[in-house]
Amino acid sequence: MRDLLLSAYPLIKATHIAAVIAWMAGMMYLPRLFVYHHQAEKGGEAERFFVTMERRLLKGIINPAMIAVWALAGLMLYANPALFGAGWFHVKLAAVLAISAIHGWYAQARRAFERGERPRSEKFWRIVNEVPFLLMLVAVFMAVLKPF
Ligand code: HEM
Repeated sequence: MRDLLLSAYPLIKATHIAAVIAWMAGMMYLPRLFVYHHQAEKGGEAERFFVTMERRLLKGIINPAMIAVWALAGLMLYANPALFGAGWFHVKLAAVLAISAIHGWYAQARRAFERGERPRSEKFWRIVNEVPFLLMLVAVFMAVLKPF
């Protein structure tokens, strides 16, 4: 099994990066929808539209992409357990755990919007939108540069 994974390692890594792109695209789009949702008239046509878009984005793209990112990472770690001891991997793991926690928090906020609530403020979601991007930068630089 490990030999098979090692021979397929470049393919697994490439698919991991593709899944990361889908995950991050969704993670940066969902708070934008929350911003527009805040501007929509309560109980109006636009509000129903945003509820549908937020649900489809989360369940159709963000959730499956995150599962793929972690599953493919698990295969790489099983194939190459020495990675667990690498300093860069520890920093990266902290960054991607933080992104995953924000993912869970976005899912909670989405449910609140679906119930007709308006969690936080428009300005809040504009600012928070940048956090997963900055954490993703840490993950990319650690994974590619492996500085320590
Ligand atoms: C936003 C999230 C993530 C980003 C941007 C990211 C980015 C990357 C990149 C660019 C690589 C290729 C590095 C290379 O050039 O060899 C990579 C590999 C890898 N990633 Fe991720 N990743 C993310 C999430 C995760 C998660 C959640 C894990 C789980 C522990 C993980 C574990 C790994 C592992 C084990 C490798 C292989 C490293 C190697 O063999 O050198 N990644 N990741």
